[in-house]
Amino acid sequence: MSYKSSVPLLNKASCPHVVQAPTVIAMVGLPARGKTYMAKKLTRYLNWIGIRTKAFNVGEYRRAATVDYRGHDFFRADNKEATEIRTQCAMMACEDACRYLQNGGEVAVVDATNTTRERRRLLVDYIHVKNNHKLFFVESVCEDPKIIEANILEVKICSPDYLEMDKNKAVEDFLQRINHYTLSYEQLDYNHEKDLSYIQIFNQGERFLVNKLAGHLQSRVVYYLMNIHVLPRTIYLTRHGESEMNLKGRIGGDSDLSERGWEYAEALAKFVEEEKIPNLKVWTSEMKRTVQTAQFIEAPKEPWKALNEINAGICEGMTYEEIQQKHPEEFAHRDQDKFHYRYPSGESYQDLVARLEPVILELERQENVMVICHQAVARCLLAYFQDKSSDDLPYLKVPLHTVIKLTPVAYGCRIEFLSLNIQAVNTHRERPKNVDVTRTTDDALHTIPDHPC
Ligand code: F6P
Repeated sequence: MSYKSSVPLLNKASCPHVVQAPTVIAMVGLPARGKTYMAKKLTRYLNWIGIRTKAFNVGEYRRAATVDYRGHDFFRADNKEATEIRTQCAMMACEDACRYLQNGGEVAVVDATNTTRERRRLLVDYIHVKNNHKLFFVESVCEDPKIIEANILEVKICSPDYLEMDKNKAVEDFLQRINHYTLSYEQLDYNHEKDLSYIQIFNQGERFLVNKLAGHLQSRVVYYLMNIHVLPRTIYLTRHGESEMNLKGRIGGDSDLSERGWEYAEALAKFVEEEKIPNLKVWTSEMKRTVQTAQFIEAPKEPWKALNEINAGICEGMTYEEIQQKHPEEFAHRDQDKFHYRYPSGESYQDLVARLEPVILELERQENVMVICHQAVARCLLAYFQDKSSDDLPYLKVPLHTVIKLTPVAYGCRIEFLSLNIQAVNTHRERPKNVDVTRTTDDALHTIPDHPC
């Protein structure tokens, strides 16, 4: 099977400009330039904001198509047989990406090197001209040897290609692989590919060049990519200390901390001191219980309205028992689809994710931050970092008096739940088995947590 370009770049006559057209995002760049990091992160972000997205990694297709990795010679431009396999793998990934878009996907990220104009032209022909999808290229250009070396050591030598190889040999082989690609590398260049939509990212965000942005989705992608960084840092996520309303099993409101909640505020300040976190910033909501929880911490504090707890509308201040008693149908509807359910005159988890998007963007820009927030808000933020689906999101466990420490590692982040060992009520209600509106009160209430008052 051989793939050759048959039509000129972006044959406009055959491609009507569709505003909501599904989009393929194709990565471009030499190996070890952070493409997979960006592809994975972007995929996670787009899914979190509700855009169905999937990444297709051509390296995985190559590994499936070859018996085992036999070294860098496979990547030589004059290795005809291997070049054919590599092109086939790239096209298989594109075919799967287009199939995904035809079956309800909204964005497919093709994670490959795509380092030659010829290869990019194949993508344009197949994805844009033949399948009528939008195509946006994201190129990572990086010549800083320190960044490249760090990338090789952090992720490349742990790749399945090098499982059996000595570490130094693996680095050497990978550098050779980069050399082979470098010989034929053609950066995206306005003089040759001015009709393409793309962003070029230089030295991991030092400088950007954007060409022919086409539509809202691409603008969001650009905005996101311009805000992320790869500096080492830690994000600490915690709920406020136990509140008076928590003690009574009541949702929402703006109550003060309970006695144990104040103890947590003190313990949290001590925890922060012991962690010795450089340039820590503390973000709270505008509600008393988060501001009080931050009170003893010695660091600059900033209240965000966007971090306020989910607005439960007509159910604000009620217990779950009271909601079942007064609005049993609403209660059942929430259990049927907790992510999309919107309290009358209030919010849904989906609304909350939209409200929190600027917080996530700002978190991406920052270094060490502690976010002190609320149960539903913390679930939304955690779902972003843990790549959780909208179905699982409203049931994530975020206990009181626990610090969640998020440390970026390789392609994801390490998550530690650190309990500060101060008793608190449980506010987590599992999804009950029976979610029918005709269910009995016992069926509706059997998963509610106990509360002392
Ligand atoms: O119970 C504490 C609380 O923060 C309420 O204020 C809020 O309505 C609730 O948790 C959110 O949790 P769930 O969506 O599970 O009801």
